[in-house]
Formats: sequence, C-alpha cells, structure tokens
Amino acid sequence: MQNPSDIIKEFENELGKVSSLAVLEQLTITYLGRNGIINTLLQSMKDLSVEKKKEFGKEVNELKFFITSELENKKTTLAKKTDETTFIDVTLPGKQYPKGSLHMITPAIEEISKIFEKIGFIRVSYPEVEWEHYAFEVLNMPRGHPARDDFETFYFDTPEHKKYAKMVLSPHTSSGQVREMLRLNSKPPIRMINIAKCYRLNWDTTHTPMFHQFEGLCVDRGINITHLKGTISYFAKEFFGENREIRLRPHHFQFTEPSFEVDVSCGVCLGKGMVNGSKCRVCKSGWMELAGSGMVHSNVLRAGGIDPDVYTGWAFGFGPERCVMMKEGLKLNDMRIMYGGDIRFLEQF
Ligand code: PHE
Repeated sequence: MQNPSDIIKEFENELGKVSSLAVLEQLTITYLGRNGIINTLLQSMKDLSVEKKKEFGKEVNELKFFITSELENKKTTLAKKTDETTFIDVTLPGKQYPKGSLHMITPAIEEISKIFEKIGFIRVSYPEVEWEHYAFEVLNMPRGHPARDDFETFYFDTPEHKKYAKMVLSPHTSSGQVREMLRLNSKPPIRMINIAKCYRLNWDTTHTPMFHQFEGLCVDRGINITHLKGTISYFAKEFFGENREIRLRPHHFQFTEPSFEVDVSCGVCLGKGMVNGSKCRVCKSGWMELAGSGMVHSNVLRAGGIDPDVYTGWAFGFGPERCVMMKEGLKLNDMRIMYGGDIRFLEQF
C-alpha cells in the first residue's frame, strides 16, 4: 500500500509541471477519478482492522482534501492566465488585408450603360450560350451562308434543335436584336442597349476568345441614318470628350442595309492625322475604327415580327475594350494582357 506522504510528493511534483487546463484535467482524473489513486486507497482499506481503518481513513481524507484544493487553486491560476493571453486590445491597429479592385472593363461598362440610359435606352442582357437561330438565321445569315465564317464561332457538341439549330457561344451581341423585338411583342418603340460577353475562336495580339460588345438597337416609325449618326456622336462626346467627332464609312453586314463602319477622331491629333508637321503616331490617319453599324435589314425586322413598311431602325455594335484603350490612350502591344490575370497590370486601372 502506498504511503500518503509519498503520494503527496509525487502529486506536487506532477502538479508543478502542469501548464494547461487540459493537462490539469488529466491529473484530476488520475487522482480523483473513479479508478483514481484516492479511490484505490480507500478500497484497499477494507482488510484493515477497525483501529487501523480509522487512522488510515483520516489520513486518506486529509490527502483527498489537500489534492482537491491544490487542483482547484491551479485551475484558477491557469484560467486567469488564459484570460490574459486572449485579451483583445481594441485600440491596436487592424490587420491590412490586400485590397481588390474592379477589372478595368467593369467601370467602363457602367459608364457606357449610364450614357445610354440618359437618352432612354434600356439595358438588357441575353444568353451567352445561344442558338444559331438568333446568332445567324434571324440576322439574314441562313444556314451555309459564307458570312457566318466571319464570326469564328464556338459550337456545342449537342443535338440540333429543329427550329433553333445548334448551340453556340454568342459571337456578338447582335443575337439580342430579334430577342428584344420578340420580348416587346414586336411592338416598337425599341431602344435597347445590350452589353455582354462574346466569344470567338481567336487568340492573337489584338483578339481574346472572350471579349465584350455593346449593342444599340433603335426601332420606331421614321427612324433614319441621321438618328444613328446623332446617337453615336452623342456617345463619342460623352465617353471620349466634347471635341471628338465621328464618321461613318460604307461597309457590309448581312443584317444591316446600308451598313457602316464607325470611326472616331483621334484624341491626339483631333482628326488631322498630323502633329507638328509629322504623321500622328497614335492613329496615322486622324481616325480610329470603333464599331459596326447600319439600318436594320428588313428581313431582321420581319424575323422579329415587325413590319418593315411601317417601322425602320438602326443598330450598332461596339467593343468596350477598344473604347477603354482609346480613352486611356493605352497602346497595348498585346491585348491578351487584359484577361491574363496579371495583378501588376490590372492594378494600374
Ligand atoms: N455584330 C457585328 C459584329 O460583331 C457588329 C454590328 C452590330 C454591325 C450591329 C452592324 C450592326 O461585327
């Protein structure tokens, strides 16, 4: 049988080493638990004589009292210590987390959208995963038409739909034109500004497979080219500055007739093409190409359920990436950097 004074020595030794509440808990179990040292001592008393039992019982009880109070004291000091170490000093300066920012295209899109909302255009968006039907068929590019090639489209390997044909990643925002006419139950007036991601199988210094476009569409009675020109001119002045001009150059698109390419005068030489007697290094000609546009083709109006003898309309499609580059005077020798995710480039905007 163990001697109570030996037990005390060992207990004090072990208690001295305890530095956490968890270890203290273990020690408590070792001494005071159901199968702990104290209980074992008490059980071993049963064979002693009555006299001895009295004497030994007293000693064990004192021992138990001592151990219990020592453990309690230790618990109080440890708890106090933990409280002190977890104390929160609210006056300390906070941790600085790295700040995120919007991608340069995002505020540009917001700005463009506001410019058009001011003159009554409604911002809409249409599916990025689109049917051939809306991307081509209703835009006067029937199946097998060679003009479809210009749109370098990503096709989905899914079964063909009887009416809507194959699924594609929308190669331009023009696929929203007929969708918008149908959304409004073929009832003009229509003033749409559709800003969205577009996709084409292109990967070089001036193209990324994902890019953005914003598409304007206006359909009403008596709409003509002057309205198209006036609207684009308004946009150019709002977005690039009061001193900028636009011009339309004849072009061809299947879904507009007549069709134009839109140029904006260069912000450096202001359309002159010359700076101090030498060729403008930014634009070389005084003008920079910005967009495609034209009067909505009668077949497109018909596909949208609108009578081309009653209504006319115009449409344009711009690339916001190009607009941002022109506005910032940013000459990128590789456009892919815009979507490369390199924080050192993106942080600058
Ligand atoms: N959708 C054409 C393109 O992506 C641009 C365009 C839009 C042209 C609207 C005319 C009218 O090239």
